[in-house]
Amino acid sequence: MLFKEDKNFNFKFPEPQYLGAKHTHLAWIQKFTPKNITTAIDAFSGSQSVAFLFKQMGFTTISNDFLNFNNQIGLALIENKDVKLTKEDLKILFQPAVNKTDFELIENTFTDVFFDKEEARFLDNFRANIPKLDNTLKQAIAFTVINRSMTRKITMGHFGHTQALVYARNQERIKRNRSLIRPIKEIFEEVLPKYNNAIFDNERVNRSFHKNILDLLPTLDNIDLAYFDPPYCDSHADYQGFYHLLETYTEYWKDKEFINGIKRYEPQRFSGFDKKRDVLSSFEKLFKLSEEIPNWLISYNNRSYPGIDEFEKLISKYRQVTVEAKTYSNGRGGKGSVAGSQEILFVCKPKKKHFVSLNHQKEFVNEGL
Ligand SMILES: C[S@@+](CC[C@H](N)C(=O)[O-])C[C@H]1O[C@@H](n2cnc3c(N)ncnc32)[C@H](O)[C@@H]1O
Repeated sequence: MLFKEDKNFNFKFPEPQYLGAKHTHLAWIQKFTPKNITTAIDAFSGSQSVAFLFKQMGFTTISNDFLNFNNQIGLALIENKDVKLTKEDLKILFQPAVNKTDFELIENTFTDVFFDKEEARFLDNFRANIPKLDNTLKQAIAFTVINRSMTRKITMGHFGHTQALVYARNQERIKRNRSLIRPIKEIFEEVLPKYNNAIFDNERVNRSFHKNILDLLPTLDNIDLAYFDPPYCDSHADYQGFYHLLETYTEYWKDKEFINGIKRYEPQRFSGFDKKRDVLSSFEKLFKLSEEIPNWLISYNNRSYPGIDEFEKLISKYRQVTVEAKTYSNGRGGKGSVAGSQEILFVCKPKKKHFVSLNHQKEFVNEGL
């Protein structure tokens, strides 16, 4: 078992650009992860960094994020055991698409917003070809890598601003990041091997989902560990505002409006964890639905709502909890936070049980419940 896990750790998680991604905290999170378990869920998986760690640790890994572009990474890296994108597949993806007229969404919506016309057309053409790959895992790799390439090309790695083309003409910025002026196709070809090389088999059946976690949990059972890394409410929680373009590209919406300068889709998916008015009741539901899962790890930030003490109180109704903290020193905290903010991990275990003698019978009683 140990030997197999060691082999899994030879595979390198391709570095993401995703607000709040935990790839730089994995060793720290691993320290608090129970080892003798079978099944773990990464419930708000984003870039899939923690799901990838769980897969490396040999767990049957369930991954979930309510955005489909994140799910595509989950299919490509977590669910996938051995399917890779080959040179032949690239020929299919780069060929002139025959059904081009059905695929003009990026050109029509994002020309002169994030891309010039030629790049927008390239993206539409590539998108038209993705369904021609005869395997959904290959399609997932194609989505994952083209989405990653778009993120690489756009200044700041997100789509919540309208400065992309201005910055792409700024010599100082180009000097710092040449990807601003490189063709997306070239970036794609450079990034692809990093993903192909990260695909491995941990000899478990792993799954990726894109559901609201509150809808998914009731459909699952026999989970030993849940990792929760929800949006940090009140602090860069609007993932659909930052990454709308990737979701639009993946879904290729036919039924949305594209609003304001950034052309974000509307209506958005409902999260329940990104707005103050919903978040407390969503956490209550989340914890209630997770009662049968013995171990929880919860990532948090000391600038989120509710505050640490209130949140700890909420968790304490269900679990015995210890609070671990890491202070950011380099000015680049998770979810856009800044130096001095703290990354928090709530390490939650089942409450201790006491024997109580009652009429000569012995019963288990949960402390505090
Ligand atoms: C802090 S990020 C997770 C980062 C991730 N741990 C990583 O390492 O990349 C929070 C994620 O929660 C997702 N999310 C928000 N509301 C959700 C919901 N109700 N159900 C499932 N996922 C949700 C967002 O799309 C976002 O990717």
